[in-house]
Amino acid sequence: MSANADTYRSGLEAVDRIVNRESEADEVLRRVVEVLRDRFAHYSWVGIYLVEGDDLVLGPWKGPQATEHVRIPVGQGICGAAAETGRTEVVDDVSADARYLACFPSTRSEIVVPISYEGRVVGEIDIDSDEPSAFGEADRAFLERVALLISPHCLVGWDTGGVPWPEVRR
Ligand code: SME
Repeated sequence: MSANADTYRSGLEAVDRIVNRESEADEVLRRVVEVLRDRFAHYSWVGIYLVEGDDLVLGPWKGPQATEHVRIPVGQGICGAAAETGRTEVVDDVSADARYLACFPSTRSEIVVPISYEGRVVGEIDIDSDEPSAFGEADRAFLERVALLISPHCLVGWDTGGVPWPEVRR
C-alpha cells in the first residue's frame, strides 16, 4: 500500500531541510534513511549503497535486521542492475526475479533507485518491503526526487578511486 499524497509531500520537505541544513555527507544520508524508514510504513528496510570502483558498498541503513550484502558488484542482483543501467528497478515479486539477491525472508517486493551525479551513477536507494507489489508510481517519483536531492552527498568514491565508507550503521 502506498502512502497518501501528504506523506510524500512532507517527506520531500523533510529531505530538503536535511540537505540544506546539514553539511556532513554521512549525517545527511543517515537522516534521510531515517525519514524514509520512519514515515513510510511500507518501507520495511531502507539502505543507501555508494559506488566504489566496480562495487556498491552499503552506507547508512535502517530496518529490523542487518543485511549480509554489504558489498555488491555492479551488475549483480537488482541493486547491481540498477547501478549498471542507471534506471530505477521495481520488483513486485522478488521470488519471481532470477536476479534477486535474498537478504530477508520477509521481503516480498523491492525498489532500487539510482543516484546520479553529473551523468554517473554514484549510489542508490534500496528499499525492501514485506508487502507484495508495495511500490507504485508515487514511490518511484518521490524516491527519484530524493535521489536527486541527496546526490551531491554521495560522492564518497568520486575522483578518489574509491574511499571506503567509514562504517555500516543503523
Ligand atoms: N535484494 C538486493 C540486495 C540488497 S538487500 O535487499 C538489502 C538485490 O537483489 O540486489
